[in-house]
Amino acid sequence: MELKRTKIVDIFNPELVGSKVSVKGWVRTRRGNKHVQFVALNDGSTIKNLQIVIDLEKFDEETMKPITTGSSLHVEGDLVASQGKGQTVEVQASSIEVYGTADPDEYPLQKKGHTLEFLREKAHLRMRTNTFGAVFRIRHHLAYAVHKFFNDRGFFYLNTPLITASDAEGAGEMFQVTTLDLNNLPRTEDGKIDYSKDFFGKATNLTVSGQLEGELGATSLGAIYTFGPTFRAENSNTPRHLAEFWMIEPEIAFYDINDNMDLAEDFIKFCIQWALDHCKDDIDFLNQMYDNTLIERLNGVLAENFVRLDYTDGINILLEAKKKFEFPVKWGIDLQSEHERYLVEEHFKRPVILTNYPKEIKAFYMKQNDDGKTVRAMDVLFPQIGEIIGGSEREADYDKLLNRINELNIPMKDMWWYLETRKFGTVPHSGFGLGFERLVLFVTGMQNIRDVIAFPRTPNNAEF
Ligand code: 4AD
Ligand code: MG
Repeated sequence: MELKRTKIVDIFNPELVGSKVSVKGWVRTRRGNKHVQFVALNDGSTIKNLQIVIDLEKFDEETMKPITTGSSLHVEGDLVASQGKGQTVEVQASSIEVYGTADPDEYPLQKKGHTLEFLREKAHLRMRTNTFGAVFRIRHHLAYAVHKFFNDRGFFYLNTPLITASDAEGAGEMFQVTTLDLNNLPRTEDGKIDYSKDFFGKATNLTVSGQLEGELGATSLGAIYTFGPTFRAENSNTPRHLAEFWMIEPEIAFYDINDNMDLAEDFIKFCIQWALDHCKDDIDFLNQMYDNTLIERLNGVLAENFVRLDYTDGINILLEAKKKFEFPVKWGIDLQSEHERYLVEEHFKRPVILTNYPKEIKAFYMKQNDDGKTVRAMDVLFPQIGEIIGGSEREADYDKLLNRINELNIPMKDMWWYLETRKFGTVPHSGFGLGFERLVLFVTGMQNIRDVIAFPRTPNNAEF
């Protein structure tokens, strides 16, 4: 009978010492002498490698030759306590099967450290490195934490469409979806593209946010959240922007802006605590290799209440700051990341939730304040990241919402269903969007958003 495989994550269990085990994985390194060879085997289940000890009296040249960095093996042998330093147990190989070789002249991930930029070009293999193994295991645990947080609080997971006919943010940064022949477009009499001939009988695009449909869910089910891919054709080549990212959007009936801020703060803290509790080895590794203030920063965020500050007060702090900003500060501006980081990293030294922004720089659906100038928006600003969450209380009044839609010339015929939430049993409600990759950036301490999603989509890059 074939011996059942043990994952390496499960092998460091003292009860297994003395038993015969079967392990499978990829060779990270091989070293040794004429008598004995040591292979570090990794199977992705943990950052830890398992040491395989190979007695050259038992294995011939032919078996040993293909065992090089990157090759894949099935090893059986006795699990014993290790005398060497760096590991508690090791396997004394009794049989070795090579699944696949990796030619040392071609395999790009040889022993030495590679730059993150180099590895980005090898995204098909980079998850085999310690760094990316750690990042993607952490990403998984954070995704699980998102579902756990909301499920435990009675929120329902709602799947909103990826193909839509509306621009939820009113910012026009959309990828079109069409089956029309671009080389032979059907035209109407006045020469415009005739979208009635397109697949859906109208112009469609990939969603920039599930919020509008999320509001339909919240005003029926009470509290929902979405967690899905989001697409933005904004041409911003920055370490914080992707053209395809994952967003979590809770939406809750009967919540005002303060309830919304409480939820946002609890949610982020829950996710960070979850990662600290479930990804210790990986976070320790990243802390040690890249940024030895990472764990301190994660614990720091957990320990403090987030500052809650009016946009207007934030502007005043920036105006009084001694620092010279590249983008000049005045009331009405959309804050740049240098401004956000000044407030968070230098002035308050903890996360800040900024509220009551000027209506001109925020989306049409936000609740209008009585001053006629500001809306009940909230952005959560984080150290190192800047904006990690954007949200608001929603305008629940039919006439005010319609006026704003008209002021901004948003095509009404696409919005009729959204307006009906305010027509039939409207309620105060609120929600927000968390950019999942920005959370993963914060928790891993990585510096570039391209390094926390497996296959990043950015301007001029859709490789893999
Ligand atoms: O602030 P945004 O644009 O808000 C919305 O989309 C609302 N509909 C959310 C809501 O209220 N339900 O985006 C929300 C968050 C940002 O704070 C940021 O973390 C992330 O999504 N985000 C991006 N992340 C990566 N790449 C991009 N291009 C992003 N654009 C926004
Ligand atoms: Mg925003």
